[in-house]
Amino acid sequence: MKILHTIQDARRFVWNLRSGGQSVGLVPTMGALHAGHLSLVEQGRKSCDAVVTTIFVNPTQFAANEDLDKYPRTIERDIELLSAAGCDAVFIPDVSEMYPDGSSTFVKAPDVGKPLEGEFRPTHFDGVATVVLKLFQILPTSHAFFGQKDYQQLRVIETMVRDLNVPIEIMPCPIVRESDGLAMSSRNRYLSDSERQRALCLSRALAGVQTAFQNGQRDVAKLTEILHAPLADTPDSQGVDRVDYAVIVDCENLQPIDTISASAVALLATHVGTTRLIDNCVLRCE
Ligand code: PAF
Repeated sequence: MKILHTIQDARRFVWNLRSGGQSVGLVPTMGALHAGHLSLVEQGRKSCDAVVTTIFVNPTQFAANEDLDKYPRTIERDIELLSAAGCDAVFIPDVSEMYPDGSSTFVKAPDVGKPLEGEFRPTHFDGVATVVLKLFQILPTSHAFFGQKDYQQLRVIETMVRDLNVPIEIMPCPIVRESDGLAMSSRNRYLSDSERQRALCLSRALAGVQTAFQNGQRDVAKLTEILHAPLADTPDSQGVDRVDYAVIVDCENLQPIDTISASAVALLATHVGTTRLIDNCVLRCE
């Protein structure tokens, strides 16, 4: 596996493959890799001739009060995992390579980024859209693979690619869960044993909604009650410390709906101890 640090080397690597007629999949990450990331590499290998992963903890998507400095960095282990997963190259730029002095052009994320995460993290999606568009320019791959765990991020990127005519195919990939249901996340490592136990109420809440939906419930108010119940911290059930949002919304524009006629998405953002956890499930009528 090639390890690339400069934009010039990274672009040349992808261009050589593309000009030889090969399809190339991009897997953008911030490192601290887990099985969820590796499933994106695996999907990339199935769909494309070659796969390039990026590891870059992007400062522009963190607000001043967020965990940029303590975001886990496990580069050596990440490289071993990517190499074992059959990744062809990894691009690991410095902050100064991505944002040289004087960088002042930023992408304004589309409207789908405004509700929910956009209300709690107002500058987050502008930072994500900016770095993802830069990565698409640096590494002109044919496909890019994103996990559905960051559902709103995926919608932001799909919309940006459509609106700005970026010639790349976005490939959404399913959420990967631990055997007990916890959605994989680089931030899970912040959880103590007891917090991790409590964090299981997120996947329980989503499973409850899914069961009610499969049994024919289409009323969003009723489904939302089912979504909230396991999150509450009561004497008999240990929930989360704070809920930022727990909603069921239109799965395209993330706007509120009253009933589910075709498809919707249940989205959760909560705090367990000092860790913010998100999770979701798509509800699709057959
Ligand atoms: O999902 C992530 O890890 C990041 O938001 C991404 C897409 C790599 C951009 O920094």
